[in-house]
Amino acid sequence: MNELIQKINKLKKDKNAVILAHCYQNVEIDEVADFVGDSLYLSQMAAKTDADIILFAGVYFMAQTAKILCPNKKVLLPRLESGCRMADMISLNQLREFKSKYPNIPSVCYINSTAEVKSECDICCTSSNALKIVESLNVKEILFLPDTYLGKWVEKQLGNVNVITYPGFCPTHLQIRPQDIDEARRKYPDALILAHPECHMTVSEKADFVGSTTAIMNFAAKSDKKQFVIATEKGVVDRLRRDYPEKEFILIKDNIICPNMKWHNLIDIYNSLENEEHEIQVDEEIASKALKCIDRMLDVSKAGVK
Ligand code: 13P
Ligand code: SF4
Repeated sequence: MNELIQKINKLKKDKNAVILAHCYQNVEIDEVADFVGDSLYLSQMAAKTDADIILFAGVYFMAQTAKILCPNKKVLLPRLESGCRMADMISLNQLREFKSKYPNIPSVCYINSTAEVKSECDICCTSSNALKIVESLNVKEILFLPDTYLGKWVEKQLGNVNVITYPGFCPTHLQIRPQDIDEARRKYPDALILAHPECHMTVSEKADFVGSTTAIMNFAAKSDKKQFVIATEKGVVDRLRRDYPEKEFILIKDNIICPNMKWHNLIDIYNSLENEEHEIQVDEEIASKALKCIDRMLDVSKAGVK
């Protein structure tokens, strides 16, 4: 393992490459990653790197977003199988049909979407800045896609915006049921329950804190409490256990795992860097339109993230 890590680090240096890893990745990937975090943080890091190669240990839409932000860099995804089941729930045609039902209403797309979908939306958001992005539009009504639950959570938090949602969802987070929260409360009465906003509304409503993967990790790090039940993907629990051994982290239920996030391992990363594959390409016209949608989000985010 150590030898493999050394080889990857040497390749990174020789090729002026940077490795970005999402916090749902297999935890050993952090050993070679330059940046580990949520989707907003990783897109911010992609936008400002001066590396020649960006290797994305994440899912396809994340690597695609990095390519759109850095068209002159080589962006690599070690395993092409790593798609996002939520992003795949809305095609360009489905987006057009959805928009045609609600003309003249601004469209906000979650970053978990394809470049084509981004190219026809007004602004992008992630789970960590969704409230701020929607507020920045200063309108009474928006279209939100593809995640219906993040959209409904935003609507509830803001209270003054009607959020019309597309019926997409994350199959991994939807495995968490409100009764799992009730059971966790009974079993661990002293614990705080931290959930991702991709969870069903009935789960988010019962949690003590709702936030992005990084927000959950920061909350647990800063809290005086010693025990936490985590209602998101297992990778977050693996990192929290590693970083804060004095605290206890309980995954809300077994198998809250995003199979697509778990494709990459260190061997794949080595092969990807060595052979410079698989390179992500985005059609130029689509990319330039999608860039506007992503850039608008990054500009709004610059003032600080909610
Ligand atoms: P974050 O923005 O919290 O990283 O979430 C991305 C994601 O795909 C969660 O399922
Ligand atoms: Fe997509 Fe859900 Fe996996 Fe996140 S956890 S990448 S939303 S399928």
